[in-house]
Amino acid sequence: MTQTLDIVGLSGSLRRASYNSALLRAAAALAPEGLTIDIVDWSDLPVYNGDLETNGLPAPAEALRGRIRRADGLLIATPEYNYGVPGPLKNAIDWVSRPPDHPFAGKPLGIMGGGGGFGTARGQLQVRQTMAALNCSTMNKPEVYVSNIWDKFDDAGQLTDDALRTALTGFLTAFAAWCRRLKG
Ligand SMILES: Cc1cc2nc3c(=O)[nH]c(=O)nc-3n(C[C@H](O)[C@H](O)[C@H](O)COP(=O)(O)O)c2cc1C
Repeated sequence: MTQTLDIVGLSGSLRRASYNSALLRAAAALAPEGLTIDIVDWSDLPVYNGDLETNGLPAPAEALRGRIRRADGLLIATPEYNYGVPGPLKNAIDWVSRPPDHPFAGKPLGIMGGGGGFGTARGQLQVRQTMAALNCSTMNKPEVYVSNIWDKFDDAGQLTDDALRTALTGFLTAFAAWCRRLKG
């Protein structure tokens, strides 16, 4: 029997009614057999300040690092803010990236996101660039760029768009294969 893949899901938006969090929940519901997505709350991270590292990392940063370290992969769903990666998400990545032994190295990563007309293409590119610096094993394709994401979910945050459901299913199947390939 193949082992279940334990995937950590990070939403790039801390908003309670975030569409990107809804996208992650939809992904968790559509995940293929043998892959689970645990959406992690990282809203308690402080703003990065090197002075807070003097006596070790703050507890929320240590907890997030540990959770990612234990996971078989990471799935980020993020909006873009002003054509770039949202500051809070970059802050979270920066905390987790601190030496020694950050857990991003070699970790399988999937990136997706939704926003306005360009579907976070510019923001996702910046996430890719940052994760390349951390030697993360990011899946290149398929890609999921959700344009006008607010049209694809109802008021309860349920996915209502069949084309997106199909795209997400394909993405998750490919991501499971990507994680298994890297796990060896
Ligand atoms: C500070 C800020 C900047 C934004 N910049 C962009 C942008 O560059 N491109 C875009 O498509 N949407 C942009 N938006 C709109 C977001 O796509 C929209 O608020 C989206 O719903 C945020 O994702 P969420 O629902 O997961 O919080 C911006 C929103 C904020 C708050």
